[in-house]
Amino acid sequence: MKALVLSGGKGTRLRPLTHTIAKQLVPVANRPILGYVMRHLSEADIQDTGVVVAPETQDEVKRYLGNGNRWGLNITYITQERPLGLAHAVKTAREFLQDSPFIMYLGDNLLGTGISKAIKEFQEHRADCMIFLKRVADPRAFGVAELDAQGNIISLVEKPKDPPSDLALVGVYLFSRAIHHAIDCIKPSWRGELEITDAIQILIDQGKKVRGEILETWWLDTGKKDDFLAANTTVLDQYTIRSIRGKVDSRSTIEGRVEIEKGARIINSTIRGPVVIGKDTLIDNSFIGPYSSIGHGTVIKDSVVEHVVILENSVVRGIVRLEDSLIGRNARVSKSRRLRGALRLMIGDHSHVEI
Ligand code: G1P
Repeated sequence: MKALVLSGGKGTRLRPLTHTIAKQLVPVANRPILGYVMRHLSEADIQDTGVVVAPETQDEVKRYLGNGNRWGLNITYITQERPLGLAHAVKTAREFLQDSPFIMYLGDNLLGTGISKAIKEFQEHRADCMIFLKRVADPRAFGVAELDAQGNIISLVEKPKDPPSDLALVGVYLFSRAIHHAIDCIKPSWRGELEITDAIQILIDQGKKVRGEILETWWLDTGKKDDFLAANTTVLDQYTIRSIRGKVDSRSTIEGRVEIEKGARIINSTIRGPVVIGKDTLIDNSFIGPYSSIGHGTVIKDSVVEHVVILENSVVRGIVRLEDSLIGRNARVSKSRRLRGALRLMIGDHSHVEI
């Protein structure tokens, strides 16, 4: 079993963060999303992993993943020159995949469960394809499945205006080599992409064994919705353990599941978990409330924050209460000493500010 991780695409839906960072590298609870994907592959004893990258973001993806050693993986990089769809990515990776069965994992998908059990089931049933479905509130943003009364998949449709069900296709797929022939039969969709959904439909039409399973745990498609904070909250809830490797002075209180990385300093502050505080971060005279991720090298001074994601090397200073917020890298949020009714802002493209 090989793995194919898709880490290309433009990430337009997570702008402005993705102007300067690949969407698969945006950190959730201070760890890039791709890190969770790699962990799942490694837990499933997979070694040969192809990572499909885009020319624009391949350098930073390679910098983070390296040769995959860290996870016991053996990574081959495959460049997809243009984002022409998931099925096009499989086509591009054909030489790497050869005739091996493979798991395709979209690099911006986060799953609450590993994949070992699914791989076993796929192999036991000698299936040609296995997909995962999840009930969602608005299926129009996804591939959607229609099932018969016995739970068999009748049809799949990509981003339907009028969805036949609320069962969205999760971005993890298992395939036999039969998928390659199916991909050869499809034409680009209305959005100009070779859709993997259409190729799976061909497998169904050809009477191949396509299994669908409803996912019991959570699933977050971080590259899509603006529920990035929700993703962060879920992951903090699930993974945070109390571990204090930074320095906490005697005037500070650390309550509950708080992870403080090396080189971080907590001075005269209260931190109430679940919270993660990155490397070399300074928290001074502040309160950090539940469900917050504070990135590496960030400074929070004289402030109260709760339910926030603040990425690397940013500064929050003199803010009485900041909540439900997402702040990028190298950003500054501070109270002006001269403030007399006037706000002084420098805000990048596609930003969102509520005052
Ligand atoms: C892709 C698939 C879609 C699936 C989604 C899951 O959508 O085409 O069927 O539901 O991933 O993340 P895209 O990210 O290309 O919009």
